[in-house]
Amino acid sequence: MSRYQDIKDLAKRWKVPLDVLINNAACTPRTRQETPEGIELQFATNVLGYYWLIDGFTEILKASAPARVINVASYWAGGLDISDLEFKRRSYDNGKAYRQSKQANRMLSAAFAEKLKPFQ
Ligand SMILES: NC(=O)c1ccc[n+]([C@@H]2O[C@H](COP(=O)([O-])OP(=O)(O)OC[C@H]3O[C@@H](n4cnc5c(N)ncnc54)[C@H](OP(=O)(O)O)[C@@H]3O)[C@@H](O)[C@H]2O)c1
Repeated sequence: MSRYQDIKDLAKRWKVPLDVLINNAACTPRTRQETPEGIELQFATNVLGYYWLIDGFTEILKASAPARVINVASYWAGGLDISDLEFKRRSYDNGKAYRQSKQANRMLSAAFAEKLKPFQ
């Protein structure tokens, strides 16, 4: 769920309707790690994975309408620094990285709810 290529391949192989996509996977590594694709692991899993899944499955979800997407965020969401999403300029803090990833989940939900509204 943290690798673009894996998610793209999964969407390509998917051949049946999809009624509900639940984006639930999340991690909070104590130290800064990167995926093999070179993205900070927590941002890749908790945010980009959700985005790639919704984006990769959009046509399948539309064809399965009425379908739903659920993004699991958190009451702890907040502190999103849009200028440093991957902690390249700040020292890594797993709590801050988690909070900002969950804030991004909320924003993703609002953005996709608007974008996919005509297909509800
Ligand atoms: N626990 C809380 O208090 C709490 C509060 C608010 C929101 N949430 C949210 O609820 C959701 C679930 O959290 P949880 O507490 O159930 O956490 P959890 O027990 O750590 O479960 C997280 C799940 O995500 C999977 N995962 C992590 N990285 C992955 C990756 N790169 N690819 C595929 N799967 C991956 C894990 O798989 P493996 O087991 O194979 O590692 C695990 O099944 C998360 O989105 C979290 O932010 C949790």
